[in-house]
Amino acid sequence: MKAMLCTHYGPPEEMELRDLPSPVPGRNQVLITVKACGVNFPDVLMLADKYQFKPPLPFPPGGEVAGVVKALGEGVSNLKVGDRVAVSIGNGGFAEEVLADSRRCVAMPANVGFDVASAFIVTYGTSYHALKDRAKLKPGEHLVVLGAAGGVGLSAVEIGVAMGAKVIAGASTQEKVDLAIKHGAVAGFVYPKLPLSRDQQKAMSDKIKELTGGAGADVLYDPVGDQYSEPALRAMNWEGRYLVIGFAAGEIAKIPLNLTLLKGCDVLGVFWGMATQRDPKRANESLQEIMKMISDGKLHPDVSAKFPLAEGGKSIRMLMDRKAMGKVVVTMG
Ligand SMILES: NC(=O)c1ccc[n+]([C@@H]2O[C@H](COP(=O)([O-])OP(=O)(O)OC[C@H]3O[C@@H](n4cnc5c(N)ncnc54)[C@H](OP(=O)(O)O)[C@@H]3O)[C@@H](O)[C@H]2O)c1
Repeated sequence: MKAMLCTHYGPPEEMELRDLPSPVPGRNQVLITVKACGVNFPDVLMLADKYQFKPPLPFPPGGEVAGVVKALGEGVSNLKVGDRVAVSIGNGGFAEEVLADSRRCVAMPANVGFDVASAFIVTYGTSYHALKDRAKLKPGEHLVVLGAAGGVGLSAVEIGVAMGAKVIAGASTQEKVDLAIKHGAVAGFVYPKLPLSRDQQKAMSDKIKELTGGAGADVLYDPVGDQYSEPALRAMNWEGRYLVIGFAAGEIAKIPLNLTLLKGCDVLGVFWGMATQRDPKRANESLQEIMKMISDGKLHPDVSAKFPLAEGGKSIRMLMDRKAMGKVVVTMG
């Protein structure tokens, strides 16, 4: 089987397509014929040796896949050969076959395609966990989403809308804001690219306050970090909840803690990957709930670009260059 391998840390264009032996499933594992693999920002970070989890070289990136069960390992009773499944695997999805823990696989309804199924676990799983379990978002609240047209950002927009929140989308271009509005955001604003002057930071806070009727954000979803975080925190409502999702803009913001005192607000860390390990049963229930909402037409993961495995590097380059809208996937065969 073919796999696109990161053989050394560096640009995604330097990955190599190689033939590897077909893996053999161990206890509780299934072998999956991969049909599509979702691309996420951790793939960018892994290739640059900047991610907290470091697979040994050489490795295929790709943390989530959808495909067909090809073989069962010992002890697998919940799946059979031929089942269509989606699963989060950490890395390894840039390949024609992968091994996965059968207990983490989510069955795919007949009306959900492989590209969509490969593109929801990390993003929608993260946002569902963030908005439901961590922020306890309530109907009618103002949810402000930064990076609102990115993978996790757009999923937060959609889940926020489905939970009855008034969603405000922030992004770096009008085209991105428009995409978030197409997915249900009631309003949006464009923020400038870095570096931000003091005036630009204040303007960003003021815009969030204006779009939330002067009150500020009840829940703020921040996957971008860096200089965007402090102005966003300055625009929180009293007893708001600020969700720390990621740092796609580069630096991890260092926040003056007095801001949380003045707002009476909570800063909540979100680590979906760890949450799935600590409570796999709850994580699997969440993913099944999300899959049902997709199948029922209540959520619409937006796959904006697809690349064949041999051009997998281009998919990661799109995220690196801030060009991805919604999700980018790699398709096999
Ligand atoms: N906490 C968790 O459990 C969890 C789970 C999944 C992902 N994450 C994190 O969430 C972040 C977003 O991941 P994603 O997969 O959604 O990535 P993505 O699709 O590439 O979206 C990231 C967004 O960040 C914004 N951005 C700002 N500065 C950027 C820069 N210099 N380069 C690239 N993007 C930049 C972009 O929106 P604008 O251009 O509109 O600013 C982009 O749409 C990452 O930091 C990732 O590690 C966290």
